[in-house]
Amino acid sequence: MKIVVTGGLGFIGSHTVVELQNEGFEVVAIDNLSNSSEKVLDGIFNITGKKPIFEKFDLREKSAVQDFFARHNDVAGVIHFAASKAVGESVENPLLYYENNINALVYVLQELTKLEKANFIFSSSCTVYGQAEKMPITENASIQPAMSPYGNTKQIGEEIITDVAKVTNVNSILLRYFNPIGSHPTAEIGELPLGVPQNLVPFITQTAFGLREKLSVYGDDYPTSDGTAVRDYIHVVDLAKAHVIAMKRLLDKKNIEKVETFNLGTGTGSSVLEVITAFEKVSNQKLNYQIVGRREGDITEAYANTDKANNILGWKAQSTLEESLASAWKWEQKIRS
Ligand code: WQD
Repeated sequence: MKIVVTGGLGFIGSHTVVELQNEGFEVVAIDNLSNSSEKVLDGIFNITGKKPIFEKFDLREKSAVQDFFARHNDVAGVIHFAASKAVGESVENPLLYYENNINALVYVLQELTKLEKANFIFSSSCTVYGQAEKMPITENASIQPAMSPYGNTKQIGEEIITDVAKVTNVNSILLRYFNPIGSHPTAEIGELPLGVPQNLVPFITQTAFGLREKLSVYGDDYPTSDGTAVRDYIHVVDLAKAHVIAMKRLLDKKNIEKVETFNLGTGTGSSVLEVITAFEKVSNQKLNYQIVGRREGDITEAYANTDKANNILGWKAQSTLEESLASAWKWEQKIRS
């Protein structure tokens, strides 16, 4: 069965391509290489012994999307990762985010509505919850007004998919990720942040490697155990496996509703200082960091209630925070060697 993975050479996309191939799917990866590199194909090959079909084009070009689906009329499902995802950048450049994250989604969905039956997995985010009132966060927690254009594009994306499902044959699963970290245990693929990393873990590994002078810890005056903000850090391979399970659910027509939503996290919250301590343990070296002021737009706490994904998808995150951090550190050392 042929599965299309948009953003298939990206961080989560490439790990999902590997897991799809491991399950025997034929994979077509689409990527415009704006935030990835064709070298990722070699990494995938080194892991699975197969390269996905790769097509380089931009999903913002409607004609290119139409042409693709005209040539691939045997698509069993689409997993849609392709999107811009830096919160800070989205505040500076909202139109880039609305064009890339919304237009591309619309063009892909337009082609799916032409198929007899379509199965669609959408890369969403815990960002849609904003600062949820209650921890751990369940899927029916209220959706808060978005704190950034990035978060807004995820909320709008979910609404578009819901509206489309009501009047078409497109069946969808929305996967709301918490904080994806780590790299494939083989260190053949991983996170390739271009420029200064926005996210905590790549900044930690680059600091540990000596590429950054020190980590700035954004605030230690939050109402948490040690004053630093709490997140749910999930290994990217666990996340990738959840996508394959979700796609199989649709292919096997096991979905109860035309749009289903699942939180993908470990169910455990970790503070920034706890992540630093865990990293120092797995890397066996002290991390140079400094407490500074809070980052604009950050929330205090977010970690997932994973009952729905555990009980309905039959999926549970396997990797511990330390294992995830160890894989991120192994990757950092590999790409700098
Ligand atoms: C984590 C914690 C920071 C960097 C982002 C996206 C979200 C989702 C997950 C895609 C926070 C602190 C960070 C640093 C720090 N992505 N931090 N120093 O903001 O929780 O969520 O990734 O779906 O959409 O917004 O992740 O890694 O940026 O921050 O102290 O140099 O680490 O304040 O508490 P975040 P993050």
